[in-house]
Amino acid sequence: MDGSLEIPLARPDLGTREEELLLDVVRSGRLSLGPMLGRFEEAFARWFGTEDAVAVSSGTAGLHLGVRALGWGPGDEVVTTPFSFISSANCLLYEGAAPVFCDIDPVTLNIDPEAARAAVTERTVGLLPVHIFGYPAAMAELERLAGERGLGVLEDACEAVGAVDGEGIRVGGRGNLATFAFYANKQLVTGEGGVIIPSSPEVASRLRSERNQGRDPNMGWLEHERLGFNYRLTDMQAALGVAQLERADSLLAERARVAALYNERLRQDGAAPAGEGDPDGVVLPCADRGSERRSWFVYVVRLPADSDREAVIDSLAERGVASKAYLPCIHLMPPYRERFGLSEGRFPVAEHVAARSLALPFFTAMRETEIERVAESLAAAVRSRVASH
Ligand SMILES: Cc1ncc(COP(=O)(O)O)c(C=O)c1O
Repeated sequence: MDGSLEIPLARPDLGTREEELLLDVVRSGRLSLGPMLGRFEEAFARWFGTEDAVAVSSGTAGLHLGVRALGWGPGDEVVTTPFSFISSANCLLYEGAAPVFCDIDPVTLNIDPEAARAAVTERTVGLLPVHIFGYPAAMAELERLAGERGLGVLEDACEAVGAVDGEGIRVGGRGNLATFAFYANKQLVTGEGGVIIPSSPEVASRLRSERNQGRDPNMGWLEHERLGFNYRLTDMQAALGVAQLERADSLLAERARVAALYNERLRQDGAAPAGEGDPDGVVLPCADRGSERRSWFVYVVRLPADSDREAVIDSLAERGVASKAYLPCIHLMPPYRERFGLSEGRFPVAEHVAARSLALPFFTAMRETEIERVAESLAAAVRSRVASH
């Protein structure tokens, strides 16, 4: 988040309730493993509509514990997307399992189920779909594949809290292990933090033990039943989470409002949602299909193929508008490229999308005048580039 520009990429929505609960924790002196942690977990489970929710120190920590709970390790392959934040693949490397990437759907930008099917080998033990940019992945088809091949499923829902899938089920609520994240640019924020939706009470106990250095609930501080980690969420972070959950629905609705304003305004300049309109113009995030509902995490457009993204970013910055190339493909990053012998051209759809995508400023408090300024600046930047060809 670049605070030096006038319209930043992201800004958390924090108010007096966050201050009040945070102060309660500070005054209580119970900074970790105190009552606010349980209160946050209960509030999340209630809001989400599930029996239990296990809070952890980050989305990455949640994914790591999820991989361990599924027992994925050396020699195992897990099919996942190259178009994601790096954690969704790193969590496999932490346990010695190998990510096997497959290409994405050009409209939803999530794993293409047919490509996932083609990537399954006799070494495949699981699927790790990511609900990228808050749009629900094709879970019914992926679960069918998992069922046929006896695969485990870990859902990376870090960007998708509050999204709903094609069967009207909340993302993360299908009974698979699923992880949410609450970094400062997310829909709900705790600064750093995450929640795992456990797949059973036994898994929940193991997750709670592993996040707390392998202790069991009634053990002393220096007794450790199993290998564990320090993946605890502090009570200060939990306090922010409780306050955010009290108005989670309105926070999500505000983001949807800003996205709708962007859609409307950018369409006036000839942009169209992915899968509709001129694919050579500015491409907007895909519209919701059927009963699928995106939870708006970021607002990412795709620039026309002939525009120079760096020049567009510079031009927006000159007008006080932050923007970011979003997201680079994981398989082309050094830890993956070298180790797995991956190079350009392996996943053409993901690479094409990654080369053109640009995140625009997006946060609840965005005013129409700010959206107008972003849209005008984007149109001018794209126009000047095309004109100079
Ligand atoms: C798709 C995805 N997976 C995992 C993570 C990791 O979450 P955290 O930053 O909380 O570790 C993020 C967060 O940015 C994410 O966007």
